[in-house]
Amino acid sequence: MDTVFDTALSVHRVMAPVAGLDLDVPGFVYHDSRDLTGFIDGTANPKDEAARNAALVPSGTVGAGGAFVLTQQWVHDLGGFNALSLGDQEGVIGRTKSESVELQGDAMPPDSHVSRTDAKVDGIAMKIFRRSFPYGTVARHGLYFLAFACDVERFDVQLRRMYGVSGDGVHDRITEFSQAVTGSYWFAPGEDDLKAALGPG
Ligand code: HEM
Repeated sequence: MDTVFDTALSVHRVMAPVAGLDLDVPGFVYHDSRDLTGFIDGTANPKDEAARNAALVPSGTVGAGGAFVLTQQWVHDLGGFNALSLGDQEGVIGRTKSESVELQGDAMPPDSHVSRTDAKVDGIAMKIFRRSFPYGTVARHGLYFLAFACDVERFDVQLRRMYGVSGDGVHDRITEFSQAVTGSYWFAPGEDDLKAALGPG
């Protein structure tokens, strides 16, 4: 937290002439990178080159090297979630709780979080790169969702499937135990575009 705080403070100092600070939500690493539900978050994230392909606008197109960003503050109902049996919790997420092993075959419910977000459109996997963090206090807590994508449509596909408005009438059971109270789309320009806009140095 000390390193993150120092870095955030210096970024704020540099940005102060051009940008105000509107939102300041400290997050933390919960055990071995788990969400507050106790499930490891990030297991199926693409890695290395695959992460860059999922997250960054490809070269040769407008905005190359930049990323579409989705942020959402989710508030958990941990009482409700923890009242489920272990098997039901695993069915909600689509992975085992201790080792984060993906449920297979009939064991994987069609309305699990993994079933709803592991989506393909015209044979193309709608991969995104997630960097969410738990936040909060005993009174109010959840997941600050933060993800990057090469195409904003990837977020829309996943969100439509989570909220049951993608046409098949199935919603993601995670939405029964957590609610998004904010949501914003952003565009993070790539280094070349930033240099072109701001000049060298
Ligand atoms: C309450 C909010 C959320 C929680 C607690 C949560 C938690 C999790 C967990 C535990 C996993 C399984 C492990 C992993 O692969 O990381 C997962 C997977 C995933 N989540 Fe979420 N998530 C939330 C919201 C979202 C949202 C809003 C999106 C998309 C807009 C999303 C997209 C994904 C994707 C793409 C995967 C990987 C699916 C796969 O390919 O296996 N999640 N999430």
